[in-house]
This record gives sequence, C-alpha cells and structure tokens, in this order.
Amino acid sequence: MAKSVHTVAVIGAGKIGELVLSGLLRSGWPADRLLATARRPERAEELASRYGIRVVDNHTAVETAEVLAVAVKPQDAATLLEEIGPKVPTDKLVISLCAGLPTGFFARRLPEGTPVVRVMTNTPALVDEAMTAISAGVHATGEHLALAEEMFTPLGVTIRVPESQQDAVTALSGSGPAYFYLLVEAMVDAGILLGLPRQVAHELIVQTAIGSAVMLRDSGEHPVKLREAVTSPAGTTISAIRELERHSVRAALLAALEAARDRARELAAQSD
Ligand SMILES: NC(=O)c1ccc[n+]([C@@H]2O[C@H](COP(=O)([O-])OP(=O)(O)OC[C@H]3O[C@@H](n4cnc5c(N)ncnc54)[C@H](OP(=O)(O)O)[C@@H]3O)[C@@H](O)[C@H]2O)c1
Repeated sequence: MAKSVHTVAVIGAGKIGELVLSGLLRSGWPADRLLATARRPERAEELASRYGIRVVDNHTAVETAEVLAVAVKPQDAATLLEEIGPKVPTDKLVISLCAGLPTGFFARRLPEGTPVVRVMTNTPALVDEAMTAISAGVHATGEHLALAEEMFTPLGVTIRVPESQQDAVTALSGSGPAYFYLLVEAMVDAGILLGLPRQVAHELIVQTAIGSAVMLRDSGEHPVKLREAVTSPAGTTISAIRELERHSVRAALLAALEAARDRARELAAQSD
C-alpha cells in the first residue's frame, strides 16, 4: 500500500498523538493526508497552526480518514467510542495507542468486522528513536499490520508481538523512558554530592547514557559482558555495584515493572 493513498486521523491528539503527527510529517507523510481531533478548541488551534493540518471534529475524522489512530487516555476511550463507535465503517483501520486496553474493548464498541491494531509506542518518537510494539487484534490482517508498521517505522524501531504481551510491553518500553530519566536525575544528584557542578554532572551522565545505549544496541553483546568490562577486581565499579545490590536495585526494578503491568490491567478493567 502506498502511504500517499491513506489519510490518517489522530483522534485525541494530546502528547502521544502529537508525537505521531509530528513524526509522520517528518517522515514525509503529506500534511493534507493527516487529520487530528481535540477536545478543547484552544488545543485544536494550537495543532492546526503548529503543523498546518486540518483539525476536525470526531465525526468528520471518521468519515474522511482511512486510518483512525485513537490516542485518548484509556479512561476516555469508552466515552469516545460511545460517540463514534457505531458510525465507523468496517473498511477503516482502527489503531489503538491506549495503554492497557485490549483490542476486544474496541471490537465490542465497533461494528462487527472492523479491524483493530494495538500499538504501544514511547516518547523517544520525538527524536525518531521510538520503540513501538504492534499487535493484530480482531479482524486485523497482515496488510493492516504492515500499514501500522509503515506509519511507525519512521519514528524508530517496530516489533510485532502477540497481544497477550502488550501489558508487559507497556510496563517495559511504554513507561521505560521515565525509568531512565529517573536514573539520570539520581546520578546527577550523586555527582552533586561528590562536588561536581550540576551542569558538569548532567553532561557526564547524559553522554554516558548515550554511549552505553549505542554500545548495547550496536555491539550485540550481553549487558553482563559490557558491565564486566568496566568492573575490574577490587576497583571502583564493584564498590558501587555492591551498594546497588545491597539496596536491592534489581529487585526494585522487578517489582516496579510488575506494578506498571498491573496498573495497565487495572486501567483496562476500570475503562470497561
Ligand atoms: N505519554 C506516554 O508516554 C504514553 C506512552 C505510550 C502510550 N500512551 C497512551 O497514549 C494515550 C494518550 O496519552 P497522552 O499522554 O498523550 O494523554 P493526553 O496528553 O492527555 O492526550 C489525550 C488527548 O485526548 C483528547 N481527548 C480526550 N477525549 C477526547 C474526545 N472524546 N475527543 C477528542 N479528543 C479527546 C484530550 O483532550 P484535552 O487535552 O482537551 O483533554 C487530550 O488532548 C493514552 O491512552 C496512553 O495510555 C502514552
């Protein structure tokens, strides 16, 4: 499918919806093939003036676009689908960006046969380094998955996963950037504790994070091997690692991601 034939409407263009819109524009998706909807008029004006796209009401979006990318909060999805669900023609593709919501949630509120694809992306989409996981839901074919990939590949890396893994994906890569930012924030504080100026500590840690991430991606080495290369006998690194283990950082991460996964399930249950 050539991308120029598809009109994509981002329904509920908040933070994630805007990331998708701006990423598609950067990748060359024509502005006249993009639509957005927003709840507040001031948000609609902001999007129209920032991106030169048409911001329309939800019904116009449903009538006009072939792909409906739903980017409202999970708690707002039922209300949105009450409004537009029954009117969505079955030849449209619905792409859900909502954390936690199973494709079955949409299927129950859309006409029988409407294809739904579930997508979990993350905020590094802003710099074309997103991690996006894509799952086929009810009635979605390989062609629908390929179309979702065509939209999200320019924003970073895409992977296909069974829908049963999407709550775990949400916990790992959907929320993931927040964990790295927290870690950087804490390490900058540590630099200050050790007497470094904040700006210097920030620069040291940000570049160390980038360098480590590129090595992880490009070397193909296991993280343990990369860590061992920095951990010499009776050296400085092992002293730090002993403290990290003593404070159960590994256990904290296991518990934190389990909590994020559970919260995704809770949001889905509350939205139903
Ligand atoms: N933030 C992340 O890092 C992240 C990552 C992965 C996935 N997600 C998922 O992306 C979705 C959006 O999250 P977000 O952080 O982008 O939230 P957000 O900034 O609040 O965006 C949601 C947008 O939807 C609009 N909206 C709500 N109901 C609407 C309706 N009936 N018609 C039209 N527009 C409507 C809201 O309008 P108002 O502003 O006027 O209320 C808001 O602009 C969520 O389901 C979340 O699970 C988020």
